[in-house]
Amino acid sequence: QMRNSLNALSDTVKDPAEKKRFEAEMDNFFALFRRYLNDRAKGNTIDWAKINPPNPNQVVSYDDLPNSDAVEFLNKLAVVKLNGGLGTSMGCVGPKSVIEVRDGMSFLDLSVRQIEYLNRTYDVNVPFVLMNSFNTDEDTASIIKKYEGHNIDILTFNQSRYPRVLKDSLLPAPKSYDSQLSDWYPPGHGDVFESLYNSGILDQLIDRGIEIIFLSNADNLGAVVDLRILQHMVESKAEYIMELTDKTKADVKGGTIIDYEGKARLLEIAQVPKQYVNEFKSIKKFKYFNTNNIWMNLRAIKRVVEANELEMEIIPNEKSIPADKKGEADVSIIQLETAVGAAIKHFRNSHGVNVPRRRFLPVKTCSDLMLVKSNLYTLSHGQLIIDPNRFGPAPLIKLGSDFKKVAQFQKRIGSIPNIVELDHLTVTGDVNFGRGIVLKGTVIIVATENSTIDIPPGSILENVVVQGSLRL
Ligand code: UTP
Repeated sequence: QMRNSLNALSDTVKDPAEKKRFEAEMDNFFALFRRYLNDRAKGNTIDWAKINPPNPNQVVSYDDLPNSDAVEFLNKLAVVKLNGGLGTSMGCVGPKSVIEVRDGMSFLDLSVRQIEYLNRTYDVNVPFVLMNSFNTDEDTASIIKKYEGHNIDILTFNQSRYPRVLKDSLLPAPKSYDSQLSDWYPPGHGDVFESLYNSGILDQLIDRGIEIIFLSNADNLGAVVDLRILQHMVESKAEYIMELTDKTKADVKGGTIIDYEGKARLLEIAQVPKQYVNEFKSIKKFKYFNTNNIWMNLRAIKRVVEANELEMEIIPNEKSIPADKKGEADVSIIQLETAVGAAIKHFRNSHGVNVPRRRFLPVKTCSDLMLVKSNLYTLSHGQLIIDPNRFGPAPLIKLGSDFKKVAQFQKRIGSIPNIVELDHLTVTGDVNFGRGIVLKGTVIIVATENSTIDIPPGSILENVVVQGSLRL
C-alpha cells in the first residue's frame, strides 16, 4: 500500500529532472520504511550481552596523536556543516545557523571566518559545504550571498525530503508532490550519505581531488579543522573517525561508542532496553560520548552507498501536527530518522578519537548562548578561545523557561554578566539582569510566582541565593 501511494506521489511530479530525483528519494524512503516495519515486528534486536565498552584501539587518545603541520592533507579536505535544522527550539524562525551568537555574527558567519582563516594561513582552498534541508535552503542561500566575493568556496546541497507517515494507517501524509510543507520532514543527519550522492556533490568533490570530509553540527562552535586528527585519519587509513569526549554527569544521555562483536558501533539511549538504561548512563562503564564531529573518506561513502549497505538504526520520531482545518483533530504522525554516527559500523578501520572538551561547544539552549557570548571566551578568527585564567570546566548555567526564546533572553540579559569565576548559575522565574554584573561561585536566583527580580547594574553576586521579589 505504501509503495502504491509513493508511486501515486511520483505521478504528481511534472518536471522530468525533478521526478527522477524524487523517485530516487522515495526509493530510499521506502527502504527505510520497510526496515522500520521489519524491526518493529522483530522487537528490540540489540543483544545487551554482546555490548562492551570500546577496546583501546577503538578509541585513540587525542593527546597521543603527534603534532602535525601536514598542510598537504588540507588539499584533500572539505568541511561539511549539517544545516538542515531550524531554530525553533530557541524560539527563532529560519535556519538555526543564522542565530546571532557573537559580535553580530551567526554560527554560519563564524564557520566562514574559521575556514577563511585556515585557507589564508596555509594558502589552501578548503571548500565549505552546507547540507541544507527544504526548511533551510532558501534562507541560507540569501544569507551566504554576502560571501560571493570572498576567498572561500561555499557549496550547498539539499538533503532528502521524506513524507511523514500517518500513525494510524501507516500511509504517507502528503497527497501530492507539492502538498503542504508540514507533510514532509528532513530525515535526520544520517541522510547525509544518500544526499551527498544523489545531489552529485560527492562526485563533484572527488573530481576536485577531495578525499576526506570533516562533518559537524552547525551549532558546535568547537568543531574547527584539526591537523592532528586529519593526519591521523590519513595515516591510520581509517574510513571513518568519530570524535568523542569524556562524559560528565551532565551528558549521560549522549550516544556512546561500544564494541559489538569486535566492531566499533554507536549506541544511543533510544536503543537501550529499559533495564539497562542506568548502566548505559554510567560514566564509568561508558566513558565517552559522540560529539558528532566526524571525519569520513569520500570514496568509502561512495562505495557504501552504491552497494546499498547502509542500515543505520532507525529513530522513530512521533509527533502531532495541527489539523489543516479548524475543528478537526490534530494528526499523529511518525517520521523515521537516522543519525550519521550510526554509520560507523559500515566503514573500514573506523574508530573514535577521544578529544578535549573544547572541541564540543554546542549551543542548544539560551543557557549555552549565554556561555558563548560571555567574557569567558574571546573570538579569534571565528574560533572561541576560553580564558586561559579559567580554572576547571566551563560553568554550569541553567536558565529557566522565561529565558527559552532568544528574544526573551536578550530582553532579560541585555549585557552578559562577567562569569569568569562562575561555577554554577540557576535562574528561575521573572528575572532581569542590569549591566556590568559579576557572578562568582554558585549563584541561584529564584523569582517566585507573580514576582519579579531585577538584579541592579554593577551588582557582584558571589555564592548567594536570591529569592522572592526584588525591585530596586
Ligand atoms: P539535531 O537536531 O540532531 O541536534 O541536529 P540534537 O537534537 O542536539 O541532536 P544531536 O546533536 O544529533 O545529538 C544536529 C545537527 O544536525 C542538523 C542540525 O541542523 C544540526 O546542525 N540536522 C539535523 C540536519 O542537517 N538534518 C536533519 O535532518 C537533522
